[in-house]
Amino acid sequence: MARAEPWNGGRDSFDFRTIVDSKNERRDGPKPVLFLFTIKCSLAMVEPCWREHIAMGKTILVTGGAGFIGSNFVLQEMQGESASIVNLDKLTYAGNLRNLESLAAGRGYEFVHGDIGDRGLVRQLLDKHRPGAIVHFAAESHVDRSIRGPEDFIRTNVDGTFALLEETRAHWSALPEAERKSFRFLHVSTDEVYGSLGPDDPPFSETTPYAPNSPYAASKAASDHLVRAYHHTYGLPTLTTNCSNNYGRFQFPEKLIPLMILNARDSKALPVYGDGKNVRDWLYVEDHCDAIATVLRRGQPGETYNIGGWNEKPNIEIVQTICDLVDEIAPRTEGSRRELITYVKDRPGHDRRYAMDARKIERELGWKPKATFESGIRQTVRWYLENEAWVRDVTSGSYRQWVATHYAGQ
Ligand code: NAD
Ligand code: DAU
Repeated sequence: MARAEPWNGGRDSFDFRTIVDSKNERRDGPKPVLFLFTIKCSLAMVEPCWREHIAMGKTILVTGGAGFIGSNFVLQEMQGESASIVNLDKLTYAGNLRNLESLAAGRGYEFVHGDIGDRGLVRQLLDKHRPGAIVHFAAESHVDRSIRGPEDFIRTNVDGTFALLEETRAHWSALPEAERKSFRFLHVSTDEVYGSLGPDDPPFSETTPYAPNSPYAASKAASDHLVRAYHHTYGLPTLTTNCSNNYGRFQFPEKLIPLMILNARDSKALPVYGDGKNVRDWLYVEDHCDAIATVLRRGQPGETYNIGGWNEKPNIEIVQTICDLVDEIAPRTEGSRRELITYVKDRPGHDRRYAMDARKIERELGWKPKATFESGIRQTVRWYLENEAWVRDVTSGSYRQWVATHYAGQ
């Protein structure tokens, strides 16, 4: 990913109306002429002047940067030499500063403990840091929790996003024109807003009508609509990404893949909902972060981009793959981990199939996933088995409580 690209980046081409007076340069040549010409040039040709723009050092305000995807994004971005990130996170059960330990002493990074719904705090951060962009990850993200208690989902995903948008709008409106133009608000969303597919339906595209089924999906859909409206009504330069299921390091083990890895490691039951044939499209988290960085720098304000792994798999196949990898990396004498698979009561309203058509982001911005599922899942299983301290840290307290309540009587 070229770091020199601007927020309002590489998708546009520019009309340069240039007047060239050749009088002094071509004394021996034909009669000097004053001519006007139009060059339709690509970004590649004007990159040096954009480089200067970036060198001015624009901070990114990241929300929810201590969570699974947010922390992967922050770490990825901070690899850039002149990166500067302010990370606003409430540190709910899903936020974990351990994920960002390697940045503690680094320059250009600041953590702020707080709620996106705290408008005074958001205002203060915007005034102080004058970020060039906001990347909004903060959310309640677990479907099962939203079914048990939707209130936090409305508070953070809907009210919180609204508060953030309102403060951003006020701040952005008062910026000088050049800064207003290059500013970006990138909203990180999900494929779940589109509802559920039948086995032969084409994958979700950016124009698929919204049909969210869980309280989580509905809260994300509501936030997507707010973001869309802020662009349409106020001209706020927003970008929305809708992504499929992520997997990789730092995911809280309430979600399918890390839950199955850790239960398999400990020879515990592997609870598969319903018949195990629900289908998800799985994307390695680093590829998602790369896609977000690409949209941030090259995306067209007001647009939405679907992100996916072209990797549809039924849940049971995922669980079996995990069993085999754990058997291979941490063999046990009692037989294959597949024997631990236990079919349990289905999730209420369980979406049958998600699939993403990610051709737009590939065609227009040149992004496509790099990791194969085989390499990504192997790396992920290894990471959870090798990072015992991290696992111990997150699987105490409220985590144990959740597992005990949610899987009780299954
Ligand atoms: P996560 O649950 O792991 O992390 C969420 C983070 O947000 C945590 O650090 C938490 O402390 C923080 N947070 C929650 N409420 C907050 C508030 N009110 N103020 C400030 N911080 C708050 O989530 P994730 O899986 O990393 O997902 C990040 C984003 O990506 C979410 O918006 C989610 O909807 C979206 N998404 C996730 C996936 C996926 O597969 N995990 C796929 C597509 C989209
Ligand atoms: O599609 C993107 C979404 O993916 C994100 O927006 C969400 O934030 C993220 O949590 C994820 O939602 P899912 O509900 O698809 O993910 P989860 O890991 O909870 O479940 C994946 C599938 O596995 C789903 O069909 C339910 C099933 N499952 C899950 C758990 C936790 C089981 O069969 N057993 C389980 O114990």
